[in-house]
Amino acid sequence: MLASSSLPCSLADINEASSYYFLPKNPAPPLPTDQELAVETIRRDFPALHQQINGRPLIWLDNAATTQKPQSVIDAVTHFYSQDNSNVHRGAHTLAKRATDAYEGAREKVMHFIGANSVEEIIFVRSATEAINLVAQSYGRRVVGPGDEIIVSILDHHANIVPWQLLCEEKGATLRVIPVNNNAEIIVEEYEKLLNSKTRFIAIPHVSNSLGTVVPIKIIIDMAHSLGIPVLVDGAQGIPHFKTDVQELGADFYAFSGHKLFGPTGIGVLYGKKSLLEEIPPWQGGGNMIKNVTFEHTTFNSLPNKFEAGTGHIAGAVGLGAAIDYLTDLGLAKIEIYEKDLMAYATETLCNIPKLHLIGTAAHKAAILSFVVQGVPSGRIAEFLDRQGIAVRVGHHCAQPSLRRFGLDSTIRPSIAFYNTFAEIDELVWAIQQSIR
Ligand code: ALA
Repeated sequence: MLASSSLPCSLADINEASSYYFLPKNPAPPLPTDQELAVETIRRDFPALHQQINGRPLIWLDNAATTQKPQSVIDAVTHFYSQDNSNVHRGAHTLAKRATDAYEGAREKVMHFIGANSVEEIIFVRSATEAINLVAQSYGRRVVGPGDEIIVSILDHHANIVPWQLLCEEKGATLRVIPVNNNAEIIVEEYEKLLNSKTRFIAIPHVSNSLGTVVPIKIIIDMAHSLGIPVLVDGAQGIPHFKTDVQELGADFYAFSGHKLFGPTGIGVLYGKKSLLEEIPPWQGGGNMIKNVTFEHTTFNSLPNKFEAGTGHIAGAVGLGAAIDYLTDLGLAKIEIYEKDLMAYATETLCNIPKLHLIGTAAHKAAILSFVVQGVPSGRIAEFLDRQGIAVRVGHHCAQPSLRRFGLDSTIRPSIAFYNTFAEIDELVWAIQQSIR
């Protein structure tokens, strides 16, 4: 059930509901063609997009769960395993050198891509989830004590709630939650009220994976820093859609997953400011992260190896590097403009479906369209969409508190990427209409 029957569901309602809604009231002038994405050409780079599902062409609208991979990423991983495969940092032979160069080359690409200051600030991990757990267990354990407070938001993915909750339980600290308004926008005034002398850490999402809200992370970071409080940004759903510069943002930690950035699964990145990473203890022990081991005492390797115990996902890092090359060639600025237009179109056309309620109507949204249709089970709609070859996610999206805020346990969630087309949105809208007839 919807929490409020007055949730905006049509373009007119929405524009009235918010004076700066993300749909432009005056359409932007057409772009010069050299700034447009050549989407039909781009789609040829993604082999998985060209298949039939249940006898219909696949329409991949589950990009927030994972993205499809361009051929260059698939080739980079294949090349690594067929030509360069070796462990890194440990061998004196040619393949060890090639693998190490490829792995460290990928780290450099990540550093440039996110505007970090040095490769020492780039830690390869398994996923955004692992990156957040690393910070909670290593940094958090060091700075959080009984009676302290950690702030998260109601929009966070479980991966940016549970690690902090576990830490609070262990340390006798309290988790405080930034609320949202009826458009699913962070209420900055409420955030300000939560900040106090007991606040030790803030963990926020860049973009809500369930409702698509773009969180004003710069404002949140600046306010936290004015009180000397560090901030982690879960960038899993932000970095695929915007040019992200961690130094410009001032984020102390920024976490993201490779597979949502058109790279392989099983590889992720933790960016951390060098001064903070140097200060905190390693998280996991093992090979690679040590300088010297005796049974009496172990000394640790320098950054970033101190946080990379054991053999990492070398091929995954190489694939992530290729994904970054691909995105850099396309241009994040062009991607952002194209996706904004596609989102505006999708929002407008979805809102024309009777009884469809869009959940999450923030002024600034990215990539995600969560909705329910009054009186129709979401599972039934998603099954019908699958029969039409349309892939969307249905359920709580690993962000239960954000949906419960709107009185829901589940939504249908199409999520877009730059390779989706306006025609695919038309197909989606047609299929939803058929499923609820
Ligand atoms: N966190 C991913 C999602 O939002 C899996 O679907």
